[in-house]
Amino acid sequence: MRQLGIIRNPYVLRGLTAVVIVGLLGLAVWIGYAWYQSRLPASYNAMDYGVMDYGGGAPQNHAEHPHVRVDALTGPQRGTPDVRVTLTAEQAEIRLDSGRTVEAWSFDGQVPGPELRIRQGDLVEATLVNKDIDEGVTIHWHGVDVPNAEDGVAGVTQNAVMPGRRHTYRFRADQVGTFWYHSHQASSEQVRRGLYGALVIVPRKPPAAGTLDLATIVHDLGGRPALGHSDEVQRRAVEPGTPVRLRLVNSNDSPERFVLSGTPFRVVGIDGTDVNGPTPVEGQAIQVGGGARYDLAFDMPDSAVRLGVVGSDAALSLSADGRTDPPEAEAGPDFDPAGYGRPAPTPFDDVRFDRSFELKIGKSFGFLDGRPGRHWSINGRIFPDTPMYVVRPGDLVTMRIVNDTNAVHPMHLHGHHALVLSRNGRPVTGSPWWVDTLNVLANEEYEIAFRATNPGLWMDHCHNLVHAGDGLTMHVVYEGAWTPFELGDGAGNHPE
Ligand code: C2O
Ligand code: CU
Repeated sequence: MRQLGIIRNPYVLRGLTAVVIVGLLGLAVWIGYAWYQSRLPASYNAMDYGVMDYGGGAPQNHAEHPHVRVDALTGPQRGTPDVRVTLTAEQAEIRLDSGRTVEAWSFDGQVPGPELRIRQGDLVEATLVNKDIDEGVTIHWHGVDVPNAEDGVAGVTQNAVMPGRRHTYRFRADQVGTFWYHSHQASSEQVRRGLYGALVIVPRKPPAAGTLDLATIVHDLGGRPALGHSDEVQRRAVEPGTPVRLRLVNSNDSPERFVLSGTPFRVVGIDGTDVNGPTPVEGQAIQVGGGARYDLAFDMPDSAVRLGVVGSDAALSLSADGRTDPPEAEAGPDFDPAGYGRPAPTPFDDVRFDRSFELKIGKSFGFLDGRPGRHWSINGRIFPDTPMYVVRPGDLVTMRIVNDTNAVHPMHLHGHHALVLSRNGRPVTGSPWWVDTLNVLANEEYEIAFRATNPGLWMDHCHNLVHAGDGLTMHVVYEGAWTPFELGDGAGNHPE
């Protein structure tokens, strides 16, 4: 009672009110400041933001020593290319097998764009022409660890190529495997609308004669999953005994599950790296994360084989007469690469790592470019205050990726392949599991490792491109690298 008496005292009451008002004002000022601070300028440099993270290695003063321009880190400028290709970005009306039409953005009037087949070691010269995509386009060679200037990221490694303009990429195809290419300007919109295609690098030594080697991309066209350009069953006559390799690419934002029925098969490649000692798999579905690739191989049996996508009519049906459809199989449990195949030495056996980074995906309250809400965050911070991981050439690097959300995040590091060391604290057994796009499921935790052997400024982002556009974007920068390009409306560059 005595306390109440004090509060009723007019002087104390007034004092309390004043304190509350000042507190609220302070809060309003603080929120206003956070809002103001979060707004991105019309144009800015990728290096102006980001939380410098040295991962326990030697720090550096970036402002003082940036001396390597990323646009100087080109592929071979001399030499006659072994492969010369021109890809024209243009609007096109696409007709699917079902007869439906889609207003698409395409390369060469096709969706997917032309499949590029390259032999290992070839020097590639690819010219991108923009016919009529108003916001500009680029080409990123997803999974190919090209030199930085050839990486095709608008506002980071080049300017978006505007209508009527062109840009030439040159690189040597050193890897072997399944890759894809896509625009990296406004990519969440442009990939969805059709600016992508398959890129296959085959070994110099040709595979067994008569091998059927098919790449197929799953993508929602007009709101329904299609395989390649078809939203229906594609039938094909295949002689029994034919060695078959199916290269599965997922260009959607979310994971897709493939079911291959009618034969046991082997998982022979993941993200453009061969699996060591693959063993037969049967009755398991292959979950392919957004942006990821899986290669499956088998010898064609006498009976029919079917490759389907769970939840869609799109399928590939292979049979001796090209007409028989095998029964549709139930999707089994998901194939797990973490214990598949035979172990082999890796560059990270018994080494001391030079840097170890943390990449913790969460959700935080705050402002994203002035928009209040609960946004994606990395290590508790919202874009553009996401990490700028600093490395030095030659560094051995580990990264712990923690997904503290209920969403799937296919994490994609440009310019490097990473070895998966462990998942949820348990080491990977089986074949070395190399990735460029790691499908991190809800609440999973991974440890990966990579060698810093490709200088430049590299994007590292979620390949659910909508998430990337909503701030799940960060960078790996090599000491001394800097970009002359700018991001934002003023510069016309929007990689996400
Ligand atoms: Cu396939 Cu940065 O992307
Ligand atoms: Cu994501």
